[in-house]
Amino acid sequence: MKMIHSRYFDFHEGLHVLKDPATGLTGLIAVHSTARGPAAGGTRCWSYTNTEELVVDAMRLSRGMSYKNAIAGLPFGGGKAVIQRPPGSSFDREALFRAFGDAVASLRGQYITAEDVGTTVADMHTVRSRTRFVAGLHTEGEAAGGDPSPWTALGVFECLKAASLEMLGLSLRGATVAVQGLGNVGSRLCHLLAKEGAKLIVADVDTARAQALAQKFGAKQLDSQEIVSVEADIFAPCALGAVINDVSLPNLKFKLICGGANNQLANEHHGELLRQRGIVYAPDYIVNAGGIINVCAEYLGENAGGVEGRVRAIPSRLVSVLREAETSGRAANLVADDLARRIIAGAD
Ligand code: NAI
Repeated sequence: MKMIHSRYFDFHEGLHVLKDPATGLTGLIAVHSTARGPAAGGTRCWSYTNTEELVVDAMRLSRGMSYKNAIAGLPFGGGKAVIQRPPGSSFDREALFRAFGDAVASLRGQYITAEDVGTTVADMHTVRSRTRFVAGLHTEGEAAGGDPSPWTALGVFECLKAASLEMLGLSLRGATVAVQGLGNVGSRLCHLLAKEGAKLIVADVDTARAQALAQKFGAKQLDSQEIVSVEADIFAPCALGAVINDVSLPNLKFKLICGGANNQLANEHHGELLRQRGIVYAPDYIVNAGGIINVCAEYLGENAGGVEGRVRAIPSRLVSVLREAETSGRAANLVADDLARRIIAGAD
């Protein structure tokens, strides 16, 4: 595959190949846009089955970061790093992330990294030993920082509540919510939903994790495939991307899809197919901006105090996009993309 012939290539400013045989580091840093500031976005470490999958993930995720950061009003562009997880568990993780830190440093601040799926706060501290262009680190006192996931989960929860009430007239108390993926974001989201009185259906490929969570919250546990076609008011995808695709779409029975996962739609046109089926789709990169809001506040040396207010402001932006989609008869993901592009171009 030639990167620039891929339909996911969107005139990214830079696609930087990572290759360090000494540590096993293989991957890509994709800088989509620096129009609004340095390209900010996390590092995903995953077992990709082939190079094309890795490249497509980097290109899609980095574009999503540009759009996410623009709509969240952050003075940052969008980028993303993806690393092929070395096989087995015996690789030298610290050496790998030191080499990755050197790669980030070589971009001289064009790209700022943080955690994503498969990377941890400890990994980011290893990166910090080589470069200052990293956030998502432990911080002390009043300073913003640390694991972005609780902020992401809070933003997703607030969006779920607002979209459900405003678009469906449905309160979360007593509503049935199916949560797929019970990691850092999904498990915290379940906690918030249970506190609000929602009925939960949960699934994770890690069935032991799903079982423990189901017991804790009195939730129904399903297989990670089954949950996509279950009868429930709301679906909250919190695992990996492309969960809304040609296979899953005809079987969806939800009224609203609103979750933390990036790139939930396999392709853009799936947003239009959801609209035609009367399913409200909350664009993922608006909903899951809580984490990057915290990461950027940390990078800019701000206090934690301001982060919560900014995260709680996400739902009003979401509802205005959903309303515009409703009145214009357009798919919500396309309305969001247009808004993001206008902001990046400086027109909004
Ligand atoms: P995580 O790695 O902690 O959790 C992901 C969970 O999904 C794991 O428990 C995994 O076993 C499960 N999973 C993987 N494939 C699955 C499948 N097919 N079916 C069911 N479960 C599956 O990741 P985290 O941090 O919770 O992120 C979840 C999603 O949210 C990702 O798409 C990530 O990119 C996105 N996101 C996360 C942010 C954060 O602050 N952590 C910020 C913005 C987006």
